[in-house]
Amino acid sequence: MGLKHCHNFQDFRKLARARLPSPIFNYIDGAADDEVTYRRNTSAYEDVDLVPNILTGVADVDLSTTIFGKKLAMPLYCAPTALQRLFHHDGERAVAKAAQKFGTMFGVSALGTVSVEEIGAMIDTPKMFQFYFHKDRGLNTSMVDRAKAAKFDVMALTVDTITGGNRERDLRTGFTSPPKLTASSLFSFAARPRWTLNYLTHEKFELPHLQDHVQEGTNLATSIGSYFSTMLDQSMNWKDAEKLCAQWNGHFALKGVMSVADAKRAVDIGCTGIMVSNHGGRQLDGSRSPFDQLAEIVDAVGDKLDVICEGGIQRGTHVLKALSLGAKACSGGRLYLYALAAAGQEGVERALGLYRSEIERGMKLMGCTRVDQLNRGNLRFRI
Ligand code: LAC
Repeated sequence: MGLKHCHNFQDFRKLARARLPSPIFNYIDGAADDEVTYRRNTSAYEDVDLVPNILTGVADVDLSTTIFGKKLAMPLYCAPTALQRLFHHDGERAVAKAAQKFGTMFGVSALGTVSVEEIGAMIDTPKMFQFYFHKDRGLNTSMVDRAKAAKFDVMALTVDTITGGNRERDLRTGFTSPPKLTASSLFSFAARPRWTLNYLTHEKFELPHLQDHVQEGTNLATSIGSYFSTMLDQSMNWKDAEKLCAQWNGHFALKGVMSVADAKRAVDIGCTGIMVSNHGGRQLDGSRSPFDQLAEIVDAVGDKLDVICEGGIQRGTHVLKALSLGAKACSGGRLYLYALAAAGQEGVERALGLYRSEIERGMKLMGCTRVDQLNRGNLRFRI
């Protein structure tokens, strides 16, 4: 099966599985504990039905939305995700260029493998920098300064990784960053010679935002769970977030808000957006899904900051449902990572193109020509 036979999320997932060594595929594909939350993040969309309107004249559909004061050509963007050069040798470069082509936002992770300077110089479409609050304060300051100097538009502080999630697939495969050849993983790498050759013949793996400050992740192999548990500051609190927001002095979001009380507090400390997210089910298994939690958060703060629904999205209609509840935009990781692993920039472009067509087709079938016409009146919840 090749890229031209990929028509949806599951097709890209299958192709990624065929191309990646198993520890790497399972790092993307896996989640915490029993992966109940991971599955619910998507199945939640099936508990709600769309009720279309007809005869509205939908020849011209505008898919654009504005978040953080920036207009995106479509209401779905590429959430920041770590370690992208492990998935394809072009890594963030491929995703950045694809996102630019679709006029949507691209998030670069603190654990990214291409620097903010390079991405900043490469694309002029909206960019987000995702920040982990480390114990190393010098590292924290350096990341803020570098993202600012590289003209990133939004800073997103991740707040749901205060300790590592229990990712049992990673424990079983021995996945680390950088990848480590062990007796048990040798077979998985040998079984994917094309990936292994690409990995060995391209520039050395590194985490450019961290490596001058900490060795873990770049030179010292570590699991992501233990990176979170040992390198991040577990004393992080609202004061730290408020200080960081002031230090950034621009559009600032908390990524991983799930309660109404926290959403209100995000407004109080000066956030201009929040990602309703449970980190793709990779942290607290049993956590409610972002879509299930969206309505009450939108009701509480939707007129004060941009509410973004993140996680579980596999279809354009999922985006339509989240926007109908009042999200300003949606984002996700796996929705473009399998495509990146499958075929680099071309893969991500194909995935984004399919999502865009699905959203546009869905809008037409719903009788809507602008995303702000979607509303709760066109949803029915199944009991
Ligand atoms: C993860 C982090 C790195 O979920 O975002 O693996």
